[in-house]
Amino acid sequence: MRTIGLLLLAGAALAQEPVATMKQLMVDMIYPASNDILLVVNRGGPSDEKEWTAVRRSAMTLAESGNLLMMRGRARDQGDWMKDAKMLVDAGTAAYKAAEARDTNALARLTEQLDASCTTCHKQYRSNVFPRP
Ligand code: HEC
Repeated sequence: MRTIGLLLLAGAALAQEPVATMKQLMVDMIYPASNDILLVVNRGGPSDEKEWTAVRRSAMTLAESGNLLMMRGRARDQGDWMKDAKMLVDAGTAAYKAAEARDTNALARLTEQLDASCTTCHKQYRSNVFPRP
């Protein structure tokens, strides 16, 4: 029984192995998703159903990306890193809700929160980039 339990545990741990490197996650998932939202907001907000759907998807991508950052193998520590990743979860979740409600103003107000969720973590953990010249 004990062996089976251990095997199951090992299986669960394996199932959580990260696929993307930190850089891939940033460049191929998180950055495009946040950029898509910011571009649409800068143009005055989504103008049709297709754009609202795109914003909703990007917002969900960001929210769940925050969870991916908290995975074992990715989390750099259990303190500030987790808090910073949670900021991304919260910003993405709020943007998702705004998109569901087709609330352009709420979405526009969220860009600051979204931006802060990136820079807060980068300041501490992407030290080769900050402070910018
Ligand atoms: C919890 C921490 C954390 C959060 C939140 C976070 N990042 Fe990052 N980001 C990092 C780290 C660490 C690196 C450095 C990765 C490396 O080079 O290994 C990085 C690097 C990057 C890079 C550069 C990749 C390269 O070419 O080296 C981009 C672009 C980026 N992040 C975009 C974003 C955006 C946009 C957001 C917010 C929507 C965000 N990140 C949120 C931790 C975070």
